[in-house]
Amino acid sequence: MSDHARSDGETATAERRATDAATLNWTGGSVELPLVPGVEGDTGLDIGKLRSESGFITYDPGYGNTGACTSAITYLDGESGILRYRGYPIEQLAEHSSFLEVAYLLIWGDLPTRAQLDAFHNEVTHHTLIREEMRSFFDSFPTDAHPMAVLAAGTVGMSTFYPDSQNISDPAAVEVTINRLIAKLPTLAAWSFKKAIGQPYVYPRNDLGYAANLLHMMFAVPSEDYEVDRQVAEALDLLLILHADHEQNCSTSTVRMVGSAHTNLYASISAGISALWGPLHGGANEAVINTLERIVADGGDIQKWVDKAKDPNDAFRLAGFGHRVYKNFDPRATIIKGAAERVLAATGADDQLFEVAQRLEDVALNDEYFISRKLYPNVDFYSGLIYRAIGFPKTMFTNCFAIGRLPGWIAQWREMLGAEETKIGRPRQVYVGEPARDYVTIDQRADG
Ligand code: CMC
Repeated sequence: MSDHARSDGETATAERRATDAATLNWTGGSVELPLVPGVEGDTGLDIGKLRSESGFITYDPGYGNTGACTSAITYLDGESGILRYRGYPIEQLAEHSSFLEVAYLLIWGDLPTRAQLDAFHNEVTHHTLIREEMRSFFDSFPTDAHPMAVLAAGTVGMSTFYPDSQNISDPAAVEVTINRLIAKLPTLAAWSFKKAIGQPYVYPRNDLGYAANLLHMMFAVPSEDYEVDRQVAEALDLLLILHADHEQNCSTSTVRMVGSAHTNLYASISAGISALWGPLHGGANEAVINTLERIVADGGDIQKWVDKAKDPNDAFRLAGFGHRVYKNFDPRATIIKGAAERVLAATGADDQLFEVAQRLEDVALNDEYFISRKLYPNVDFYSGLIYRAIGFPKTMFTNCFAIGRLPGWIAQWREMLGAEETKIGRPRQVYVGEPARDYVTIDQRADG
């Protein structure tokens, strides 16, 4: 077991104590709710005793105002467009760090020394192969299976090969599971793509960097040499960094929720992958390209599509715009836009969709509807254009997002399990169905 399996800085937040209280008054009573102060930003109202002392529960569909945990991993200020991992601004990490270093930072709490990074790199590099029996697993899916379905199934499937992952209270077993997951997810993702296009599976090359190896497994074929383009590998590494964590989003909350039942890490991550698949979440990068293609095929009339998105009677929304917490520019979108320009220049990819995307952004950002609702381009708006320029098919975009988000999910799962405050996740509800009534036998029921 390495030192970080025992020591990390994650206990500091858990030990923070409530220092003050707010009072909730209603006709006939009141209750004191202790405050849970954050280091920056939000302060929590601890409602743990609310129901027992008042008979009330809180009602917050979509959890827009609900803090489900304290966390020392990621800080996000959506009003000011700030994102930091373990205190480090995303802009600095994007410029100076690498994905594996960021993964280490998120999971183990601090930037690694050179020796720690080398050891982590070595561990990850030596777990990239998946068990040979899993080849038949890929073979058994239909050719047109969505790669996200295959990735989610493959991830939980790995728990069958590594039963030690069930032992979530053994730090050494957890650490090896973490290394296996980070090492093998790109192999699973690339093989799900190879399966879909009917090409032979390409084995990992341990002499390549993390992003370069993913590109190699995706695009190499046995019949010819494939050389990884350095600029493309760097752009992919950058995308993985930008996706690496985003505090309590839908998929991360899913991982925490599933993990709170003491479910093993493979199964918890597989649930996160399924949540990420949705077009309102990680699947938006695929939806953005679909939208841009529809706009081009329809003659390129941007205003028409902006008007459609604004029409309350039309279900159409502009994918890649809006965010639950960012009410200002998503800092990741700003970085990605610059990267998209560089990748398109490096690959010489047809940039018609990029042009349409820029025009769409201009029109939307100057439109009262988008301004008043604070709808800005989010991380998915430009990331799909980069994936597309690299050569990824649309159905693989969210797989890449999942590889990037993996360290964040792992860090959050680990933090959740180690926190004193953790209980099995189990929200309450406000029941609005029928009151109690007696069973009616079938021959006595009126025909509808
Ligand atoms: N196009 C048009 N109108 C929009 C959009 C959009 N993309 N997003 C929000 N709105 C409108 C919405 O109709 C509502 O208007 P009104 O107040 O008149 O009813 C208002 O803006 C507030 O929207 P909301 O649905 O209440 O906001 P939310 O926080 O529940 O949803 C969201 C956030 C990201 C699901 C939503 O903005 C959306 O559907 N965006 C498109 C999908 C997308 O890009 N998702 C990726 C999010 S970032 C990466 C990730 O999470 O993986």
